[in-house]
Amino acid sequence: MAAIPQFTHPIELLVNGANHRLTVGGSATLLQVLRNDLGLNGPKYGCGFGQCGACTVHVDGVAARACVIPAAKVQGRDITTLEGLGDRLRPHLVQSAFIQAQAAQCGYCLNGMIMTTVALLAQNPHPSQQAVRDALSGNLCRCGTHVEILAAVEHAVAMMANTTSDMAQR
Ligand code: FES
Repeated sequence: MAAIPQFTHPIELLVNGANHRLTVGGSATLLQVLRNDLGLNGPKYGCGFGQCGACTVHVDGVAARACVIPAAKVQGRDITTLEGLGDRLRPHLVQSAFIQAQAAQCGYCLNGMIMTTVALLAQNPHPSQQAVRDALSGNLCRCGTHVEILAAVEHAVAMMANTTSDMAQR
């Protein structure tokens, strides 16, 4: 039986501030490239249809669903994953807020919750409860940890306000 031809092509992606030259399949999604080629497992595979938010990343600072974005389409764009926000030693403020609020049960949705929250707070540092609910409404949590997640976002907003007022007083 004849082998099925594999169509691959070179692409260049800017991820978490680093440039990567890769050879990927013609139909590779950004999520596949991030997880399989770059070993960035912060973004998760949930539905694969852009419906659950588990795969959320930032493209030019805007929350986007990596499972439905062709990798070749985001060449030249600034891509940030959960790993690009912070790490265990220097977590992002929103990551710290989620840890302090213990806003996780299985944790599978947290990538999307955190990436969406970071994008929201960059646009609106003082969101109303309704604005937070609206922003996170497309991020599914099957454990039902929504109350803790909303508390974590509220905590992040308060931490941000404190940081801003501390800096203003210096
Ligand atoms: Fe991308 Fe569900 S895996 S939105």
